[in-house]
Amino acid sequence: MSAEFPVARPRRLRRTASLRRMVAGTRLHPAELILPVFVKEGITEPQPVGSMPGVVQHTRDSLRKAAHEAAEAGVGGIILFGVPAVKDARGSGADDPGGVIQKALGDVLAEVGDAMTVMTDTCLDEFTDHGHCGVLTADGDVDNDATLERYASAAVSQARAGSQVIAPSGMMDGQVGAIRAALDADGFAHLPILAYSVKYASAFYGPFREAAECAPQFGNRDTYQQDPAGPVGEALREVRLDLAEGADAVMVKPALAYLDIIRQVRDTVDVPVAAYQVSGEYAMIEAAAANGWIDRDRAIMESLVAIRRAGADLILTYWATEVARKL
Ligand code: PBG
Repeated sequence: MSAEFPVARPRRLRRTASLRRMVAGTRLHPAELILPVFVKEGITEPQPVGSMPGVVQHTRDSLRKAAHEAAEAGVGGIILFGVPAVKDARGSGADDPGGVIQKALGDVLAEVGDAMTVMTDTCLDEFTDHGHCGVLTADGDVDNDATLERYASAAVSQARAGSQVIAPSGMMDGQVGAIRAALDADGFAHLPILAYSVKYASAFYGPFREAAECAPQFGNRDTYQQDPAGPVGEALREVRLDLAEGADAVMVKPALAYLDIIRQVRDTVDVPVAAYQVSGEYAMIEAAAANGWIDRDRAIMESLVAIRRAGADLILTYWATEVARKL
């Protein structure tokens, strides 16, 4: 036996495309993808979002079409974000029975039937004139407990309009418990909650704030969203609290900069774990690709495979329909 040449040759399993396909340890499936969409009240044409090439603020009609295409591609779910025509300090549009989200829910449900799960983001920032995720105290702080009442009312309103999963994203303490209690009291004990449990105060949300027109008009979200350099164990603490309050599935957000957190959460809980590939993650790849600096399609797949490999069972991505068609 010659000692000069290796016996173990990992390259043997990489020799052909069919071998690589057969031994792949990480696979993506359309059903685990969730498409986030923006619907804006009072527009007659879809409005492109400058910082998210390929993403638009939908009209009710264009949203129906996008939902249809996603369902046809086998995408597992769609999550609706509403942009109201009028905003105020308490985010009145969030629980308006005739609000933009409530109407869009009816449209999308009629379009896709049971083909796809229709979910709603529950928060106030798209609906408040100050852009914060809650109502404010006289000093301009976000008032945690007063905000819980608004979230509860918004969640019930979405449930009545047909939402099939409530996804609270505002990072108020106790939001899952407050929403669970309100849903149960209104006859929606069967409706699941996908909690944005671990949500960092991230620079990667920049383009979303253009899409949802929800940039804070003063200050930032650092007092409610998590510090990227926050205490060790904080992510798991948030997850445990949400599960104790009745969350049925949990989310980590953003995804690519927090793969370690996704893995920790996956290894700790026994409910589905979602990860949100956020607007800035989308914009970075689209922008670099538009400059010819990276291979767009490969970068998209590589980033999604990384999120899946880190342990996400569900992935929210603006590329959901495009990617589902390719799988
Ligand atoms: C808050 C919310 C945000 C996102 C989803 N829900 C924005 C924020 O916290 O400022 C960001 C999603 C993305 O960047 O794609 N309602």
